[in-house]
Amino acid sequence: MKKTFYITTPIYYTSGHLHIGNSYTTVAADTMARYKRMRGYDVMFLTGTDEHGQKVERKALEAGKTPQQFVDEIVDDIKNIWKSLNIDYDKFIRTTDDYHVRAVQKIYQKLYEKGEIYKSEYEGMYCSPCEAFWTEHQLIDGKCPDCGRPVEPAREESYFFRLSKYQDRLIELLETNPQILQPESRAKEMINNFLKPGLEDLCVSRTSLKWGVPLPFDPKHVAYVWIDALSNYVTALGYGSDDDREMKKYWPCDIHLVGKDIVRFHTIIWFALLMALDVDLPKQVYGHGWLQMNGDKVSKSKGSGDLNIVDPLVLTERYGTDAIRYFLLREMPFGADGEYNFEALLSRINSDLANDLGNLVSRTVAMAEKYFDGKIPAERRTAPLDLEIETVAGDVYRATTPFMDSMTFSSALTEIFKLVSRCNKYIDETSPWILAKNPEDLPRLAAVLAQLCQAIRVVAVLLTPFMPETCNRIIGCFGGTVERWEDAANFHCFASEISVHKCENLFPRIDIKKELEALKPMSPVKKETKPDPDKEALTEIGIDDFLNVELRVGKIISCEPVPKSSKLLKLQVDLGGQVRQILSGIAKCYLPSAFIGRNVIVVKNLKPAKIFGQESCGMLLASSHGDEIQVVFADQAIPGDRVR
Ligand code: ME8
Ligand code: MG
Repeated sequence: MKKTFYITTPIYYTSGHLHIGNSYTTVAADTMARYKRMRGYDVMFLTGTDEHGQKVERKALEAGKTPQQFVDEIVDDIKNIWKSLNIDYDKFIRTTDDYHVRAVQKIYQKLYEKGEIYKSEYEGMYCSPCEAFWTEHQLIDGKCPDCGRPVEPAREESYFFRLSKYQDRLIELLETNPQILQPESRAKEMINNFLKPGLEDLCVSRTSLKWGVPLPFDPKHVAYVWIDALSNYVTALGYGSDDDREMKKYWPCDIHLVGKDIVRFHTIIWFALLMALDVDLPKQVYGHGWLQMNGDKVSKSKGSGDLNIVDPLVLTERYGTDAIRYFLLREMPFGADGEYNFEALLSRINSDLANDLGNLVSRTVAMAEKYFDGKIPAERRTAPLDLEIETVAGDVYRATTPFMDSMTFSSALTEIFKLVSRCNKYIDETSPWILAKNPEDLPRLAAVLAQLCQAIRVVAVLLTPFMPETCNRIIGCFGGTVERWEDAANFHCFASEISVHKCENLFPRIDIKKELEALKPMSPVKKETKPDPDKEALTEIGIDDFLNVELRVGKIISCEPVPKSSKLLKLQVDLGGQVRQILSGIAKCYLPSAFIGRNVIVVKNLKPAKIFGQESCGMLLASSHGDEIQVVFADQAIPGDRVR
């Protein structure tokens, strides 16, 4: 039977949009999954979406949609992003999937029957964007310790999970099993910051929202979103259903890949939950660092200006899928935070991809075509310099493999590019264009080009998990396909005659100055976000306040544009025997002729004002939506009558 490898990403929130920071997690997991497939593993790569909770409920309401409509649209967007990044997942789970909902209910039922869950009353603080409960002493300056946003008091009848009883087991687990949480520094953080200070039982149900999984034994409660969400890692395999074949096959999970901000949930809550359910623990939780921009975590919710520059779709369209995949994994050091900025992105693309890799391939292919018509003859001679290329290729292969196994992707890439650089240097050292001038040197030229082709093939095999499309094209130049990782260990694997096909430019060079200029409008300028008065609800008023506004029906007897103004119309309005002149900013939406003879509603007791040198006494009621204006007509009403 094949060895299995089960890797997961977090399931992403559907309350907002994804950005390049979230993409890092998924690109890293995809790269690992591709690597393991090349190593012959039966891989299960799971990703998905976390769709329940208060934030979605609120956002859907704001958008005038049902929560289901709202999340369906976002899930489509997310799947598009994964497509644009060439993410080859095996399964996509949604927490709104029926089978997941039923399985979460089974999990609650089981915990309840085992006495792991009990009813009590919750009193505390809730951060709705993070969907997290906090006790008073966990707050920082009264705000959410994770995101710094305000929290709200919450008090309700709730069910509690006996988390506190797992404290000692969790401490022992993290202290004695360093593999279970990587990088190792994160375990100390969990122990010192969360476990040692003391775990409290965890509130695992809510009654104040509907958009969640109802508890089977008390349906007015819905499941706490983190229990709902974490369960996805087993429900996706059929846990809690009648079919547990995948559970048997893939569980325990090899790697839960998560950002460092959610390591706490994945080690403390998730581990305790699995212990309570008598399910084996995963082999590893890997907490990667953050992608930062000017020292700040890249995010959309922090609202730093225009979103485009962190939008994965914009980036892949502009620079190509593989360039973005490469950049993300090259720039994030092992476990630590990485810096994201355009200069770094563009110069990586130019120097590593266009100059080093792209040039190596295009020069080699061009020479093979020019000097040998694309057929490099079988004759081989190996000078010491040629052997050095082979040695470097072997060293690089052996050094890269353990870096891949430990997901130290930036080191793996650094390693692979050593071979690329060595090959470029080899071209300079052997000067093939000089060899080409002398017919006696043609066998030597063939040997040099053959050596380059073989080294490039090794590079392409090793880069395949990172840049699958590009590497396929490179290997395609030699008429092959990439299959196994171990193919890179075998330097001489071409048939005696190597036939080389033309390959289009892999990575066009970017004019960095021009590109930065073009990107300027997309850069994050810290905008003052003024509240939109039209969206804010006003304070309540009494009926008397309202009745102080004298609204009357008026008939429009004439209407004309105001000279020099593109917005204003000048109306004469009959308010039941009394004619008023009113200027109204509706010229962009109505022709004057649209008004004659129609009845409108007028604020009669508005103080007169001079606009464009003309008197305006009163105003028309109209609604506005962006630039669109709708005047309120009251054609059935009688001019002069009061409106209230
Ligand atoms: O947390 N750099 O979902 P999410 C690197 N639904 N990683 C980043 C990042 C950045 N700038 N910003 C976000 C959730 N991430 C829950 C998970 S799992 C049972 C439930 C990472 O959409 C973040 O660390 O907020 C996390 O791993 C992932 O994106 C999803 O974040
Ligand atoms: Mg988050």
